[in-house]
Amino acid sequence: MKPIQKIAIIPGDGIGQEVVPAALRVLDHLEAKHGLSIERETFDLGAERYLRDGTTMPAELMERFREEFGAIFLGALGDPRVPSNVHAKDILLGSRFQLDLFINLRPIKLLDSRYCPLKDKGPEDIDIMVFRENTEGLYTGIGGQFKRDTPDEVAIEAEMNTRKGVERIIRAAFAYADSAGKSSVCMSDKANAMRHGHDLWQRTFKEVAAEYPHIRAWHLYVDVLCMELVRVPERFEVIVTNNLFGDIVTDLGAQLQGGIGLAASGNIHPGRVSLFEPVHGSAPDIAGQGIANPLATVLSLGMMLEHLGYPELHGQLKDAVSHCLTHGHVTRELGGSMTTDAVTDAVIAFLS
Ligand code: NAD
Ligand code: IPM
Ligand code: MN
Repeated sequence: MKPIQKIAIIPGDGIGQEVVPAALRVLDHLEAKHGLSIERETFDLGAERYLRDGTTMPAELMERFREEFGAIFLGALGDPRVPSNVHAKDILLGSRFQLDLFINLRPIKLLDSRYCPLKDKGPEDIDIMVFRENTEGLYTGIGGQFKRDTPDEVAIEAEMNTRKGVERIIRAAFAYADSAGKSSVCMSDKANAMRHGHDLWQRTFKEVAAEYPHIRAWHLYVDVLCMELVRVPERFEVIVTNNLFGDIVTDLGAQLQGGIGLAASGNIHPGRVSLFEPVHGSAPDIAGQGIANPLATVLSLGMMLEHLGYPELHGQLKDAVSHCLTHGHVTRELGGSMTTDAVTDAVIAFLS
């Protein structure tokens, strides 16, 4: 049975207000063409709402997301007028934690070699799936401040690693590798410096890997991972890592695939409501100008459609994005001159 055919839409802040409507135009087109009907409800959440009435994330909404929706489609959250970022923490991290979206799935796939900053690398060299742990690590807010604003101030940010949390993300990475015919999984941590939490990652990785003898399980410390991703990206098929390292490594990976405007992601709990969003943020430096690249959001729409039971539509959207790249239908940061709307039109024209 397909998941609930209803999506919650949160355009959010900055360019989220531009790229989400763009991707929804693509969805309109797909629905009309294929006779689909996915119900939509849009939520006014983000910096404007917070500044207007103090609401970040209404308490009852999380329950509605869980019960009534198959997926959540998010633009970005972050606004210079809210320096504490409290609304983003409540809405985005709140959804990740409270909906238990433990897999942050971030593909790094080069579609056209012209957009790769590395010399002599092509699409066959850069095709990596990152499994970022998404519900614990350094993101839980556990810790505190002591003697704040005094010379003796202390600030502690604790990294939480649970056996259950570490095991399920490692299992997800191996299960994916197994089903997708990948031959290796690389786990990355910093166990040489972080002796407690990352020792748990080391032991758990070895135990789960033993259940998949046909998949090569290998390890790199995260500093070396960054180096190797740039030097020999073709070594990597599947990467599994913790929450913070996954955040950092996937911005690096975004550049390998052509830029942050092309990087898509899913925050997933298999079989339950899950959240799909571009990897990039609200880009206040270009917001309101109509020049944001919509392709990361189009690819995130594809991941969402796959989650909703339409893998073939995900395939079509990947082809459409490839087409735009090959034909130079791109925004300014990729060397083109097209607007958000013009690139979206090019996607739709390809799909027609
Ligand atoms: P950012 O990703 O918003 O921007 C980094 C750079 O990439 C900027 O120069 C921006 O112009 C460019 N860029 C990003 N997306 C682009 C696109 N689609 N097309 C063209 N160029 C694009 O990162 P930042 O500046 O560190 O963050 C801005 C705000 O967004 C902050 O408040 C941050 O916390 C937030 N943020 C939110 C999310 C999210 O909601 N998932 C993710 C990252 C950052
Ligand atoms: C991302 C973002 C978020 C993260 C921020 C906005 C909290 O950078 O989704 O990559 O660090 O997870
Ligand atoms: Mn990030």
